[in-house]
Amino acid sequence: MKPIKNSFLLLASAAAIATSAGLASADGVAYPPLAPLGDPPIPADNPMSEAKVELGKMLFWDPRVGGDASTACVTCHEPGQGWAFGDSLSRGYPGTVHWRNSQTVINSAYYGQVFWAGSAASLEKQAPSAAKGAVAGNGENDVMETRLAYIPEYRARFKEVFGTEYPLIGDAWRAIAAFERTLIVKDTPVDRYLAGDKSALNADEIAGMELFNGKAGCIQCHNGANTTDEKYYNLGVPPAERWEEDGLAQITFRYELYAKGVTEELYRKLKDDPGLYFRDKNPDDMGKFRTAPLRYIAYTAPYMHNGAFWDLEEVVQFYNAGGGENEFTDGTIASTKTPLLKPLGLSDEEVSQLVAFLNAFSGDELQVEPPELPAYGLVASD
Ligand code: HEC
Ligand code: HEC
Repeated sequence: MKPIKNSFLLLASAAAIATSAGLASADGVAYPPLAPLGDPPIPADNPMSEAKVELGKMLFWDPRVGGDASTACVTCHEPGQGWAFGDSLSRGYPGTVHWRNSQTVINSAYYGQVFWAGSAASLEKQAPSAAKGAVAGNGENDVMETRLAYIPEYRARFKEVFGTEYPLIGDAWRAIAAFERTLIVKDTPVDRYLAGDKSALNADEIAGMELFNGKAGCIQCHNGANTTDEKYYNLGVPPAERWEEDGLAQITFRYELYAKGVTEELYRKLKDDPGLYFRDKNPDDMGKFRTAPLRYIAYTAPYMHNGAFWDLEEVVQFYNAGGGENEFTDGTIASTKTPLLKPLGLSDEEVSQLVAFLNAFSGDELQVEPPELPAYGLVASD
């Protein structure tokens, strides 16, 4: 922990950067400045312990927490691929492809809402929807719970951590969430710079940060210590190419439209991911996604909710052009596109300075030793 006095000064100086760049929101308030990231919040009803984190790590790796025991969390959140999946659309449960890009689980402990459209309110609630979702884990609670009960080592570990005779599936989600709260990357060169170490960034990276806070306007949405305001915007990201070329991807998209209850008319007509609209059925939210955080970004290509861009330069050029235009039904350009994106007029040098700054936000790659998974065994009845 840094001394309080020190971090107070830091916040003040970071605020000065944002203000000196002259960017303030419509009501004149300066955006929350970039700042060093602190520790993630721990919910009172799921306290951390070493034994719980170790159990959660095993379950994160264990494909038996899923339908046909083939698809674990780690299958789509691979440590070597930025704890995400290195394709535009994620792989899916066998026989399917997912309809969105897999997000990194690094730093997911900081969000109020998880998923691209924020459809889960906590990591404890997210884990079952991943393990049970038809195009992800596709597991059944009772089958997964029975499998855990027939693995003597899990039985002992659940008893130690949760005090139950048999593993309960709800406790599996709590253990996985606790493990995810240890997947934190915060001491990046940008954090060190913001914490006062002026040698942590080079001249290009500093110039990139100034553009980020000023001319390029990124701070309007990517703000605060976790570089996201956790609000939802339509940037006009082009639709997933694979929806035009890959029947399986189209089937998943149609299935999701149906499962998430869009109207019959939209089911027939929609051509692109409706994002936040899935949750609230408000037409004003068509195509809006949560502002993605920019930490760890060097490792998590491709980018955006559908993996439309393969490198950071492509992303910055997209913003430089003022974002895109998307349509949800034939011939109607979406009216939900945010007015905050405008052509930026960045030179090639400025684009590469912004990219250099984004890379400096990534820090070192987080690798952990994969766990050894315990075997099935018969459990003696007491
Ligand atoms: C078949 C691939 C697949 C599997 C298996 C899978 N995920 Fe995911 N995960 C994804 C995709 C794709 C997304 C983004 C989906 C969306 O936003 O609709 C995602 C999103 C997430 C997020 C949200 C991160 C954020 O930034 O909001 C978390 C956390 C997460 N997964 C954890 C897990 C856990 C825990 C498991 C195992 C119980 C798991 N995932 C299994 C593909 C998968
Ligand atoms: C109007 C709000 C807004 C502004 C301004 C903005 N972004 Fe974003 N950013 C978002 C949203 C929302 C997403 C996710 C969009 C999606 O997937 O459709 C995103 C995604 C990204 C991603 C991809 C992250 C990932 O994990 O895939 C990068 C990189 C990025 N922004 C960088 C920038 C940079 C650099 C700037 C300034 C030039 C900027 N953004 C300006 C809202 C904004």
